[in-house]
Amino acid sequence: GPVKRQVAKTMEKQFPPELLTLITSIQQVADEQNIPVFIIGGIVRDLFLNIANEDLDIVLEGDAPSFGESLTEAYGGRLKVHQAFRTATWTTDSGSKVDLTSARTEYYDFPAALPRVELSTIREDLYRRDFTINTLAVQINHARYGELTDYFNGLDDLSNRKLRILYNLSFVEDPTRILRAVRFETRFSFQMEAQTKYLAEENKQLLSSVSRFRLSEELYRLFTQSDPLKGLERLFSFQLQDILLASPDEPADVRRRQRRMNRYRYIFESRGVVFPEAAWVAVMLFMSAPDSAAIAGIRSYAMNRQEEKACDAWLTLWTHTEGNHLPFRDAHAAASHIPDWAAVAFAAFSEEASLARYVWRRLDARHALKGKDLIEAGFRPGPVFSDMLFEAEMRKLENPSLTKDELLAPFIKAGHTGI
Ligand code: CTP
Repeated sequence: GPVKRQVAKTMEKQFPPELLTLITSIQQVADEQNIPVFIIGGIVRDLFLNIANEDLDIVLEGDAPSFGESLTEAYGGRLKVHQAFRTATWTTDSGSKVDLTSARTEYYDFPAALPRVELSTIREDLYRRDFTINTLAVQINHARYGELTDYFNGLDDLSNRKLRILYNLSFVEDPTRILRAVRFETRFSFQMEAQTKYLAEENKQLLSSVSRFRLSEELYRLFTQSDPLKGLERLFSFQLQDILLASPDEPADVRRRQRRMNRYRYIFESRGVVFPEAAWVAVMLFMSAPDSAAIAGIRSYAMNRQEEKACDAWLTLWTHTEGNHLPFRDAHAAASHIPDWAAVAFAAFSEEASLARYVWRRLDARHALKGKDLIEAGFRPGPVFSDMLFEAEMRKLENPSLTKDELLAPFIKAGHTGI
């Protein structure tokens, strides 16, 4: 039979109180209805890795949507049901998310044989997963609270830091698991076990048939969960850049850009520039060869408007700056509306030092003069204000030492009335 272990004490020690309370709430409803429930997957894995994780994944021997309804009746919150998969997501009033999955079972056919069916169906559900380290299940019913079941030697692999797939067709069935393996190697310093590594190599071409969106979701996690440089190294060691991009650049160039980005990011953050989650797409930019078709190609990895806009911005900047030493005025004409973080990323990509200086200066230039200053100087507000402010911004860009009065002076001299 499977390896068993009692981990209630570890849970009490590691899980934050709110999570333990949540688990108890679920336990009560499950016990009332006599439904075996388990917490599974990432959160159990992270319990042993000493990593905080509050995404509660629950597998139950029963119907997840109706169990979710019982939870909502008892404790409030919102329920989102995915009928087709018999899964549901319960969001508590305090904002915790709980994913509920039905162990795919013949449960209803064998109600009397519950304990036996229970074991075999949970096992079946876990067997479908990606790596053994993600197949640990802990029961949370009161009578068996904290009982960990380890069907596939996940605990051994966890302590040996090995990634092992459960069946040979795993990567064929779901090629994104290759990227997940790369991500776990990066994030937890795990290594694929020999056969798993062999099959990852063998099947990596299949990644080219996966939708961009699914690839993006994994790449986004790869590049946000730790230093992107580490993720890049793992991608390079499997030569995945050739599959992900039409024109990937040399690893040495990519590394250099990402290192520069890490430096810039540190510096610009101290000037108040915010790098949103969307900034991960910059890594796709760094991986691309510096030509317009390649830069245009990375847009297919954008997952939302913010990321799409960044990709568009980079293409615009590229067409304006290609090989040129750009005067600040021209750079700003092309880039004034581009978000600071995206402009910083482009400066890191282009290796053009004057671009970094441009981005730095425009932080000062942007609010050097405000509408309020124009009004105080006697100008009547009107549509022309935006032209005046932009002109002031341009002058400040070219000459950062200009004071507010010096920025106003030419307007006053011209007798501009603002009408
Ligand atoms: N899973 C899988 N194949 C995939 C994606 C996910 O088998 N392509 C399984 C994994 O076993 C995982 C579970 O589904 O444990 C939940 O997936 P997800 O939340 O993406 O992964 P976590 O392991 O929780 O990763 P993280 O902690 O980084 O969120």
